[in-house]
Amino acid sequence: MSKVLVIYAHPETEKDSSTYALYRHFIDAYTDSHPDDEIIEHNVSDYMPFPLNKIAVSVYNKTMAHKDLNPDEQRFSDARQKWIDEFVAADKYVFVNPMYNLFIPSEMKSYIDMVMQVPYTFSYSKEGVPVGKLSNKKAIHLQSTGGNYHGSNGAPDMSSLDLGHQYIGTVLHIMGVDDFKGVFAEGMDHDPTHAREILQHAFDNAETAAKDF
Ligand SMILES: Cc1cc2nc3c(=O)[nH]c(=O)nc-3n(C[C@H](O)[C@H](O)[C@H](O)COP(=O)(O)O)c2cc1C
Repeated sequence: MSKVLVIYAHPETEKDSSTYALYRHFIDAYTDSHPDDEIIEHNVSDYMPFPLNKIAVSVYNKTMAHKDLNPDEQRFSDARQKWIDEFVAADKYVFVNPMYNLFIPSEMKSYIDMVMQVPYTFSYSKEGVPVGKLSNKKAIHLQSTGGNYHGSNGAPDMSSLDLGHQYIGTVLHIMGVDDFKGVFAEGMDHDPTHAREILQHAFDNAETAAKDF
């Protein structure tokens, strides 16, 4: 049985959301094909308890300097640790979001800031090279975008502009997760007359990806 951790970021309701529809097609196909797996879902737009704020930076700096935390910092660190432990314990990660200004929503960035923690998810070698701690795990990124970035719908490849997908792939690589792919619903805003067909194609891709995930 695998533990699947879903990090979902969308500030609006699920109504009429292509991101949500893409996710539903993925997760319904996944649960059909992996009925015994545990799915943990976090909508980090609804609840993201630990932004990278003053106290978080103080905890970071004191930990790097091997200094004691004050009681507030210790409480913050202990509570945040549960989220880090949950991330470490998962076998598979599903990141779900709409593209905002070529990137992921800020709450998803805050979630990643929370789990990118030495020594739990990665460390540094003597030479200063990051060494990932999360081996034998896999991840998928489900993303809805107004324009075309990944060569869909006859558009040229503009994947270098999809900074969110690159970023998630890079931070996962730093943490040791290299089995990473994306499923994209893209171009519906650019070509609304074909939005239905574009979405149906993305849903089919999500269902196929779910069976192999
Ligand atoms: C604030 C904002 C910024 C956006 N930035 C981009 C962008 O940079 N590139 C893009 O292709 N679409 C962009 N979009 C469009 C959304 O990514 C697209 O409409 C997506 O399908 C929305 O998903 P939803 O239907 O789940 O809300 C943006 C939308 C909003 C609201």
